Amino acid sequence: MKTIYSAIQPSGIMTLGNYIGAVNNWRNMQNDKDNKCIFALADLHTITVRQNPEEFYKNCMSFYALFQAVGLDAKKSIIYLQSHVHQHSELAWLLNCYTYVGEMNRMTQFKDKSAKHADNINMGLMDYPVLMAADILLYDTDLVPVGYDQLQHIEITRDIATRVNNIYGDIFKVPEGFTPKIGAKITSLQDPTSKMSKSDPNPNGVISCLDPPEVIVKKFKKAVTDSDTTIAYDPENKAGISNLLGILAVATGKTIEQTVEDCQGLRYGDLKLRVADSVIEMLRPFQEEYRRLIDSKDYLMSCAKEGAQKASEIAEKTLKRFKQAIGYVVD
Ligand code: TRP
Repeated sequence: MKTIYSAIQPSGIMTLGNYIGAVNNWRNMQNDKDNKCIFALADLHTITVRQNPEEFYKNCMSFYALFQAVGLDAKKSIIYLQSHVHQHSELAWLLNCYTYVGEMNRMTQFKDKSAKHADNINMGLMDYPVLMAADILLYDTDLVPVGYDQLQHIEITRDIATRVNNIYGDIFKVPEGFTPKIGAKITSLQDPTSKMSKSDPNPNGVISCLDPPEVIVKKFKKAVTDSDTTIAYDPENKAGISNLLGILAVATGKTIEQTVEDCQGLRYGDLKLRVADSVIEMLRPFQEEYRRLIDSKDYLMSCAKEGAQKASEIAEKTLKRFKQAIGYVVD
């Protein structure tokens, strides 16, 4: 049995990239009987960037409904909000004292976000990876599926865990990160060399998994390609076309090779329409389920509560083990 842990921030929209690269893969992992899966909404991480309270609240409810709509199942997995399980903040504090300022200063995401939010370089932004380490280590996690941009945070998690273990013995399981083969890097439709990101200033670059069909068609029609005419999978030289082929492969459940073969002879414009149609079909049942769930707030809250209870039972054991090793008086 492997313990799988991952989380996503409830900020802005859930993009097609999040859907394909994260939650849809999580659902597949959950349905493998050898996995014990724990998935969280990383809502404590989200306030490292200032949030509007009403919007933040709405996003948290919406993302929790999106988790369920994609088929994450509270009977099979633990699905919860990070802020409902106080052990995350507590372990993050303890781990802070085993983490060096220099290490945090070197984190690529911290440097990027500091440049982007120069007026709000708060301690939380710098401490973000330590909180993430706490998330992962609380659950004796074996595997952490993440996008490429988060691999550095997994490395620092491993460093911190190993450092603690070297001092106190076997306290934490040292986890491994991995990027799922399918959809680890869905790129912007407008700048296919950079990740499809919810903070993309160009809205045409990003598909929201809740976009209505006509919007999806419009955005794919505008997708940036190249001046060539051949359909080939070559992310380096044909980033735009390769991104479209990758999305199409996931949406139709076929391999890249098969997808490339199926699309031979298509004009770029026709390829774009084919991708749009497949994405619309892939998202249709999910969007219907989302619309049903988002109106059932009581139900969502009861699932979230149950998830938090299960999570905190596991988290408390790990936290106690560490506190005892440090020398705290624990009851
Ligand atoms: N930092 C991750 C991201 O933005 C989200 C996250 C928070 C996470 N805690 C985690 C991912 C623990 C994996 C494991 O994508």
